[in-house]
Amino acid sequence: MRDKFWILGGLLLFVGVATLPTWRDWETHANTRPPALVLPAHAKQCVAPLDFMRGSHMQLLLDWRQSAVRENNPTYVAYDGKTYPKSLTKTCLSCHDKREFCDRCHDYVGARTPYCWNCHVDPALGKGAAR
Ligand code: HEC
Ligand code: HEC
Ligand code: HEC
Repeated sequence: MRDKFWILGGLLLFVGVATLPTWRDWETHANTRPPALVLPAHAKQCVAPLDFMRGSHMQLLLDWRQSAVRENNPTYVAYDGKTYPKSLTKTCLSCHDKREFCDRCHDYVGARTPYCWNCHVDPALGKGAAR
């Protein structure tokens, strides 16, 4: 009877220790879930299709800068015919919240913070209070 107790106990302990890495894994994954990106309330569509924006928004911004600043072509005609000023603050941040959208994803993927904000304005910061 006593032997049974020790064998069972040992067995349980062994199972616990052997699967420890799995538990750990489970725990870290729970902590690194993709961030909840706050999407604009008033818009359903981005300036380009979602897949394109996911992979290429940085390139799009650089193209915008090039053509707005150097080629004096400040208006972007979107795939659906809508037009937008080629502007980081005036356009992107008219829909997106820098902190709850841009920063959240960049932090999550470990991208370095774009240096754009050294010069470009985050309008939310102007609204007072440390938001
Ligand atoms: C050293 C300061 C500085 C940095 C850093 C900077 N910009 Fe600019 N950017 C400017 C100035 C100045 C203009 C011209 C503004 C104007 O013509 O009204 C401009 C214009 C632009 C424009 C077109 C106009 C507008 O309102 O947005 C885009 C798009 C743009 N920058 C994107 C970027 C992106 C993306 C980054 C980061 C990868 C970046 N910029 C980093 C200074 C900077
Ligand atoms: C008119 C409002 C609007 C403007 C302007 C806008 N966006 Fe978006 N953006 C959205 C919406 C809505 C979504 C989500 C679209 C969806 O789920 O199909 C989105 C999605 C995205 C995504 C993908 C997010 C994900 O889940 O992977 C990125 C990145 C993005 N936008 C960046 C930008 C940048 C950079 C600019 C400026 C060049 C910009 N957006 C301008 C409304 C906008
Ligand atoms: C769903 C995730 C996601 C969202 C949301 C997102 N980005 Fe990015 N962004 C990335 C990734 C991934 C990179 C590439 C990082 C790298 O190459 O290290 C990147 C890179 C960039 C770069 C180039 C940085 C550099 O120094 O090369 C700019 C500029 C940029 N993002 C602007 C924005 C702006 C503005 C918004 C909000 C309107 C935004 N991003 C929202 C994922 C995102």
